[in-house]
Amino acid sequence: MSWQSFPKVELHLHLEGAAPPAFIRGLAAEKKIDLRGIFREDGSYAYENFEHFLTVYEAACTVLTTPEDYRRLTLAVLEESAAHGVVYSETFVSPDFCGGGDVEAWRDYLAAMEEAAAEAERKFGITLKAIVTSIRHFGPDKARAPAICAAETKGAFLTGYGMAGAEMVGRPGDYTWAFDCAREAGLHLTCHAGEWGGPDMVADTLRDLAPERIGHGVNAIHDPALVDRLAEAGTVLEVCPGSNVVLNATPGGWSGHPIARLRERGVRVTVSTDDPPFFHTTMTREYEGLEKAFGWGEEEFRALNRTALDAAFCDADTKTRIGTLLEGTP
Ligand code: ADE
Ligand code: ZN
Repeated sequence: MSWQSFPKVELHLHLEGAAPPAFIRGLAAEKKIDLRGIFREDGSYAYENFEHFLTVYEAACTVLTTPEDYRRLTLAVLEESAAHGVVYSETFVSPDFCGGGDVEAWRDYLAAMEEAAAEAERKFGITLKAIVTSIRHFGPDKARAPAICAAETKGAFLTGYGMAGAEMVGRPGDYTWAFDCAREAGLHLTCHAGEWGGPDMVADTLRDLAPERIGHGVNAIHDPALVDRLAEAGTVLEVCPGSNVVLNATPGGWSGHPIARLRERGVRVTVSTDDPPFFHTTMTREYEGLEKAFGWGEEEFRALNRTALDAAFCDADTKTRIGTLLEGTP
């Protein structure tokens, strides 16, 4: 069976990381910015490893200079997600790239994204919520401005705050100010941990930042006691298997990926694409990979989507509406 039209919920998608290379090349040409170094001859993004991926990612972001660029990007990304059956999506977006962390500038970018989300909902039947992210390798001081932007603009569209970027920079406890600021504003919280860091990074993140969800979290598998704790607490992991396989964050390819073992041990796992064009993936490909590696089918995928919707950073009415779409699964 093809999983393309199967209704899906995606919780972990970086908006800029979802930009098709042709979209970035088009903007670069319009703005006369030379970005040739970040593309391979076949037009895909060129990077060697995770650190280099972050550099290429940030270079691509240099062409996204106006709210209108983000409106067009949001619409393009949502059209592509909807084409792969995604009915509800949450995307990370960073005020560092949208007005340099200035709250007033950020408001215009956010309004442009919200406008695109409304258009995509009408045209493609996909609902979007936004999660502001601080970028960890910019350091703890720079993590504050995005959190303030998020706190000032929390609403029906902007519902969460989190942190992405190079996980080995600083310890989770260095970022408590930003997370506390977002928490006090009533935002939902998530944080990348255990993609590159070990189980201790996941444990320290839960202890010091207390997010509701963990981005990736797969290295928790190396500490059985932590796996038990995650299962007991019902902590939801935003797992991105295709990303982990391509970046070599987890050993053993698809068949060695920890998602199946985490799930068997009772951890609440979900599936997302992270930065799909960078990793040559889509939600359809993620499902195909899981089917091939672990024999997962309709029952497992329905359960994944129910978990994701349950953990989604949206209001109860939206959950009810999206739940009805999921139940309509053929
Ligand atoms: N930003 C975009 N993709 C990321 C990833 N996989 N890990 C950390 N930060 C990111
Ligand atoms: Zn991510």
